Amino acid sequence: MNTLLAMVISYLIGSIPFGVMVARTKGINIMEHGSGNIGTTNVWRNLGPGYGLLVLILDASKGLIAVLVGRHFGGIETELLAAFSALCGHSWSVFLRFKGGKIVATGAGVILAISPLVTLVALVVLLTTLAISRYVSLSSMMAALSLPITMAVLGMDKLYIIFSCILVVFVIYKHRANIKKIFDGSEYKVVRSRRK
Ligand code: G3P
Repeated sequence: MNTLLAMVISYLIGSIPFGVMVARTKGINIMEHGSGNIGTTNVWRNLGPGYGLLVLILDASKGLIAVLVGRHFGGIETELLAAFSALCGHSWSVFLRFKGGKIVATGAGVILAISPLVTLVALVVLLTTLAISRYVSLSSMMAALSLPITMAVLGMDKLYIIFSCILVVFVIYKHRANIKKIFDGSEYKVVRSRRK
C-alpha cells in the first residue's frame, strides 16, 4: 500500500510539465516550437540558456524528490518504483493528455539522488559526446548508457543496475525520432537555433 502511494505521488510530481509552464510565462507553447519537446534542450533552444537551465533544475528536482518519496515510504524497491513512476509521469503527463518529455533531466535527478558519483561520470560522458558530436540527443543517450556500466564498476546493488538498464531502454525509446533524424541528417546541433 505504501509503495502504491509512493508511486501515485511520484507519478503526479513527474507529471508537472515545468517546461510547458516556464515557456508559457513568455507566451510560448513549447510543444509547437523547435523539436516540440518540453525539456531543457528545447526550452534552451527557443527561450535561451537561463530558461533552459531553470527547466533542467525543476525537471531534475522531480526525479530527486520521487526517490526521496520512495525512500520515505519503503526500501530500495519502493524507491525505484517511485522513480520509475516519476519518469512515466514526465513522459506521459496527466496534465498534457499523456504526452510529455524525454526523461533526461528527470532521470538525472533520480540518478543524482541514488549516486552523485554515477551522475558525475554521466555528465562527463554527456559533455564529451556533446563536444564531439554537437547532438544533445546522442549525448543524452550516451550518458544514459554509461549508467549501468558505472554502477557495475562501482559494485552497486543489482537492483540499481537493473533499473539503470531499464532507464537506458526508456531513454532510447523516447529519442527514437531523434535517432531517425541523426541518420537522415536533420537532427538539431547545439550551434543551430533552427532546424535546417
Ligand atoms: O533531453 C532531450 C534531448 O536529449 C533532446 O531534445 O529537443 O533535441 O529533441 P530535443
